[in-house]
Amino acid sequence: MKMRLDRWLATLSLGSRSEVREWIRGGKAAVNGRIIRDPALSFETEEDRPALNGREIDGRVMRHVMMHKPGGLLTAARDAKQPTVMDLLPPVYRSIGCMPVGRLDKDTTGLLILTCDGELNHRLLSPGRHVTKRYRVLVEGELTETAVDAFAAGIDLGDFTAKPAELRLLGPSLAETVITEGKFHQVKRMFAAVGNEVTALHRCAFGPLELDPELREGEWRELTEEEVRLLREAAGMDQGAFR
Ligand code: URA
Repeated sequence: MKMRLDRWLATLSLGSRSEVREWIRGGKAAVNGRIIRDPALSFETEEDRPALNGREIDGRVMRHVMMHKPGGLLTAARDAKQPTVMDLLPPVYRSIGCMPVGRLDKDTTGLLILTCDGELNHRLLSPGRHVTKRYRVLVEGELTETAVDAFAAGIDLGDFTAKPAELRLLGPSLAETVITEGKFHQVKRMFAAVGNEVTALHRCAFGPLELDPELREGEWRELTEEEVRLLREAAGMDQGAFR
């Protein structure tokens, strides 16, 4: 993405627009090893390499993150009272517009994708895309084949009928389910409808991506090029250049 140098450095949270303009005019900013004194010169944010006071800066404004969401954090860009998943990332991720893709409940753990790409975000959540989400679920009471059949048939939840979903029993109170929607409290409500309250919910996979087993709760990493490619494919987007 092409961006003016002053806007670029301000977007990277290095200072206010007027501060960075002053620094640039004072010869403190460089791009690709050359001092740039014109704040209005434009550069390629994903390719060119900025530096301030001789220190190289990661200039990318298009980043995609895989996070192992811990329990106890809200999935939101910001909240006036409670900590959010954004608090686990360096502040620059907020200023470049990195946002969670959908929501996990405060007590839900597991795979959360965050991206700066608004179109990708929107498309991954679009009901028409049927992007799958796989959850591991611990419930109260014993799960039965009746629950498996009910999930397969689609469950009437009053305000909507959940689409047919796969339910695999892994133990008396442990199962995995794959859903293609993402309505509020959907998994918890589906299990409640078959008589089993959810006591722990963990997302293992989102579309083509599995939670990286190397990530412990609260840890995150950027997506690889291949993971971004797979996500864009799931979102029905052309591949273009890696962004
Ligand atoms: N379904 C739920 O009930 N909660 C979540 O966090 C995700 C899916």
